[in-house]
Amino acid sequence: MNRRWIVGLPLVIFLVLAMNGRVARVEGQNQGPALIKRGAYLVNQVARCGDCHTPRTNKGKLDLTRHLQGASMWFTPKIKPKGWENRAPDITASGKAGKWNEERMVKFLSTGQESDPPMPRYKLSMDDARAVTAYLRSLAGKKGGAGQKKDDD
Ligand code: HEC
Repeated sequence: MNRRWIVGLPLVIFLVLAMNGRVARVEGQNQGPALIKRGAYLVNQVARCGDCHTPRTNKGKLDLTRHLQGASMWFTPKIKPKGWENRAPDITASGKAGKWNEERMVKFLSTGQESDPPMPRYKLSMDDARAVTAYLRSLAGKKGGAGQKKDDD
């Protein structure tokens, strides 16, 4: 082995390993369960969509038996922006995620078009928008049995 190899080999090995990891990650994301899991993380931990879309118990806690099944807004600004909506709709498969096809939901979450306040104008990356969409579509919502005690949307 000449000197150039001795210097260059670790770099080559590093690059190969790094790329392998990357390819594996991207493939993982495209699989159903992994995609849904990532969507759940984005919805529940990062964007916290449930703060608006999940109804609350009379103690003010999120009612997780009706997770993302639609709720009245819990705050109203003194000066309402134009188009203000007092309700956040059901976004599970029994609501928007069932009525809208995947394409429309991905477009909505990646462009922010069609969002009326206080719904944030999300401009998610395509990968994130697809993950969120897959997760929402995986939730049976009101069709699932749980949450039928009160039709809130
Ligand atoms: C600050 C409160 C709030 C948060 C946070 C929020 N939403 Fe909304 N969302 C609303 C309100 C209010 C509406 C009704 C206004 C509208 O239709 O644009 C709405 C509407 C929607 C709609 C239907 C839009 C339409 O045109 O019918 C979808 C889909 C949606 N939200 C998904 C999400 C997702 C996914 C998240 C998290 C990534 C999220 N929302 C976070 C308040 C919120």
